[in-house]
Amino acid sequence: MKKILLVIVVLSVSILSFGKEGMWVPTLLDKYTIEEMQDMGFQLDAEDVYSINQNSLKDAIVIFGKGCTGEIISEQGLLLTNHHCGFSAIQSHSSLDHDYLSDGFWAMSKDEELPNPGLTAKFLDRMEDVTDSVLVGTEGLQGAEFQEKVNSNIVKIQQNASDNENHEALVKPLFYGNQYFLYVYNVFTDVRLVGAPPRSIGKFGGDTDNWMWPRHTGDFSLFRVYADENNEPAPYSEDNVPYQPKNWLSISLEGVAPGDFMMVMGYPGSTRQYLPSQAIEMIKNQSNPDRIKIRTAKLNVFNKHMKADPKVRIQYASKHARTSNSWKRWKGEIRGLDRLKAVERKQAYEADFETWYLHDDRLEATYGQVLPQFEKLYVDLLPFDKAYNYYQEVVFRGIDVFDLITYLPENDRGWERLDEKRQELYRKALSLKLTEFYDDYDQATDQDVFISLLRILRSDLDASFLPSQFVELFDKYDDEKLIRKVYQKSALVDPQKMEEIAGSFDEKWILKLQKDPLVELFRALKTHYANNIEHVYNGIKQEIDAVQKVYMKGILALEKEERLYPDANFTLRVAYGQVEGYQPYDGVNYKHYTTLDGIIEKNATGNPDYEIPQKLIDLYEARDFGTYEVNGEVPVAYIASIHTTGGNSGSPALNAQGQLVGLNFDRCWEGTMSDLMFDPEQCRNIMLDARYILFIIEKFAGAGYLLDEMDLVGVQSTAETVN
Ligand code: ARG
Ligand code: ASP
Repeated sequence: MKKILLVIVVLSVSILSFGKEGMWVPTLLDKYTIEEMQDMGFQLDAEDVYSINQNSLKDAIVIFGKGCTGEIISEQGLLLTNHHCGFSAIQSHSSLDHDYLSDGFWAMSKDEELPNPGLTAKFLDRMEDVTDSVLVGTEGLQGAEFQEKVNSNIVKIQQNASDNENHEALVKPLFYGNQYFLYVYNVFTDVRLVGAPPRSIGKFGGDTDNWMWPRHTGDFSLFRVYADENNEPAPYSEDNVPYQPKNWLSISLEGVAPGDFMMVMGYPGSTRQYLPSQAIEMIKNQSNPDRIKIRTAKLNVFNKHMKADPKVRIQYASKHARTSNSWKRWKGEIRGLDRLKAVERKQAYEADFETWYLHDDRLEATYGQVLPQFEKLYVDLLPFDKAYNYYQEVVFRGIDVFDLITYLPENDRGWERLDEKRQELYRKALSLKLTEFYDDYDQATDQDVFISLLRILRSDLDASFLPSQFVELFDKYDDEKLIRKVYQKSALVDPQKMEEIAGSFDEKWILKLQKDPLVELFRALKTHYANNIEHVYNGIKQEIDAVQKVYMKGILALEKEERLYPDANFTLRVAYGQVEGYQPYDGVNYKHYTTLDGIIEKNATGNPDYEIPQKLIDLYEARDFGTYEVNGEVPVAYIASIHTTGGNSGSPALNAQGQLVGLNFDRCWEGTMSDLMFDPEQCRNIMLDARYILFIIEKFAGAGYLLDEMDLVGVQSTAETVN
């Protein structure tokens, strides 16, 4: 008889999944990640990535605008980023007679490059750990006193560090305030538009393909950073010259293969990897479903009206895109968290955490209250989280006319103090705002959104979260009557009336508009929110943050041998992984790349998101692919297992030699839970293949001269043959 051997496997639950998870602080690569990167194929050293002594990759990477990344790709300050990051700049130069959004834009010489007031490119000069200086003098302080001291220290550090008017210094907390880093940026304000493909290429696939693989979006645009004659930042001037950067990226035409090392360096905006199980449960079971429900109702109305009226289709295209972007991501997040059993995993980790601190009285004294406090605080937060999300989605950014009201003065106090000239300026500004607003406004659509969203607000929220006049109104009248009573009686839905008001705007109008039924309704909701929801919500959030800080400290102590990365906070990070496909569903394998054939295939389906310029079809049919053809295909996009998030858009994808082979622009839908929990099996970032970018510039746009200033490596450049 054989003896049965019972093997008990003790599974320890790790806070991080194995593999390619992580957004690493570039100054700490040596300590944590460079060895693994090199094992995976990376051929450079940590000093090549970030150095204070020599030029390094970090000198070529910028914060582009308010929320994107960009990189310098020539010694003349040429900058590459996404089309969706350059979108508003491109749009601002577009009009009916030169519609650059639809037709694309290519400056054929530097004189034709277009300035963009307000647009900036920020180069990271340096970053350093300033935790000790931030905490100076905080010993023994608690709560608000502690925070006040920290804040005043931060202000001092920032002031000392902005030694020069072009320098912006920012101290940011890492690990929920267990660490602080100072970042000093060199801010350039003369950033000009150089080129953008037509929207049908730059936004190919539109909302249909957003967050999806297989993907074919040519999501890139080109800008140039300008400087004064000393190569320093300067406001726009005709005398400015192209900036000569410390470093720029060379572009490899070698392409990518499965298993290749790949690294994305840029500015991920925000992640929350260290939340407790209760938070994940709340997000998965309440916050996301609530927000999805409200936006689904809104998108249904949009879709109905956009389908019925071509004018509305244009007017609401951008609103639809904005509304659907997070809507789609939230859905993916729920699916991903479910598949990962994220709540159970967090609970298991919390059990480990408890076992850890129970071994030691001192640990128990510090951490013993963390988990029970989370338990209580998230129960307290639940109803307020619901109310918060409903107000955000319905009242503060759900209904267009409500948006307009926020531009009107609430009372006449400020008005009296304006002199005649300033009053006239206000009238002009309001009139401009109105023109912009009504250009993209359709009354029938907005009215349907109004009814549908406010009904949801009424039915889903506890009456205590709603002003009584609102509840009465909605309980008393049917939709038709409500619209007549509130919506159509309002001046705000009448562009002509509002234009008249703007022209003669004064305190009489301020007082009159206070009585407008829509204005009254909006302000009643806003006041109720401020008095009954906002401060409670913020108060609980603050308590949670304080507990989270202790929890984070505990995790750092518990995992002392492990490497941990701080949550994304829109500071420079390095993420790496490898080029690979994935299996989204049982029985389905996704390849790691897409090609121009796929664009033609999608175009044939007739979906308007897949319309393309005739020129692209002609190039395809003539097989006029220049040197960008590989085995009969033109590569378009590819994916890798790299941990990225919003803000990483426009980040360079670098190969083992640190050369640009791709441009990051999105993630695959099945992996969108990566902001909360990363899964190396399902999480993939999406990059545009550098060769497709060059193909579009050279073959489609005929702007091949731009390739002359780039460092193209790997395959013989065709730029010479073009010029
Ligand atoms: N999903 C990408 C990101 O989060 C692209 C968004 C722009 N495109 C769109 N169809 N809304 O930024
Ligand atoms: N599309 C996102 C961005 O604009 C990137 C992402 O969420 O992966 O930054």
